[in-house]
Amino acid sequence: MNIYGKMIKLRALELEDMEYLREIINDPEIESLVGGWSFPVSKKEQEDWYYKIYNDKRNLRFAIETKEDRIIGMADLRNLDWKNKSASHGLKIGNKDYRGKGYGTDVVMTIMRYAFNELGLNRLECYILDYNIASQKLYLEKCGWKLEGRRRKSIYKNNKFHDQLIAGILKEEYEELLLKTNYWGE
Ligand SMILES: CC(C)(COP(=O)(O)OP(=O)(O)OC[C@H]1O[C@@H](n2cnc3c(N)ncnc32)[C@H](O)[C@@H]1OP(=O)(O)O)[C@@H](O)C(=O)NCCC(=O)NCCS
Repeated sequence: MNIYGKMIKLRALELEDMEYLREIINDPEIESLVGGWSFPVSKKEQEDWYYKIYNDKRNLRFAIETKEDRIIGMADLRNLDWKNKSASHGLKIGNKDYRGKGYGTDVVMTIMRYAFNELGLNRLECYILDYNIASQKLYLEKCGWKLEGRRRKSIYKNNKFHDQLIAGILKEEYEELLLKTNYWGE
């Protein structure tokens, strides 16, 4: 089942998406905004990664497509914990032309609806670099997530250690957000 937001669709990753994802992962600007590794990724490594993850139901990865069927990034739900009903979440909008236009908000709203209302989860969390202002606004100001803590000096980049903020949201807080914003117009 594909997952539909108001502006985007989340669908399974395809082998053909790997070159696009490799571009995102190898882009220094995007890499500087997320907490991952700083190694160049080859075509072969990227394709091997696809075969490694494509049947992994504990870590779900989605291609983000616009309504015009254009891939603009990737979102995930990782470390799905069925007993405690929680998962971590990450998001990258690769095409810079598509940033600041509400796509990120729609992805997070869609991920929350899917996680809470379809998968039966109760909690989502993510880590945000302390200087990633767009991401803090997206999660903490627009999408109802709460600041839960700080992983001090957990990421080393550009000759410096940086803090990561821990942000989280519970199902009941998502429901309160909907009462306030009526995001889905229901
Ligand atoms: C963070 C990211 C996902 C946001 O997605 P987006 O589509 O640009 O987000 P939206 O357009 O829905 O904007 C949400 C809010 O973020 C803020 N925002 C967006 N871009 C911003 C920027 N460049 N600077 C400051 N605030 C910004 C705005 O306050 C906006 O709210 P508004 O519409 O009321 O003004 C996107 O910028 C991205 O993928 N960045 C690179 C990778 C990354 O940082 N991933 C997140 C790791 S935790």
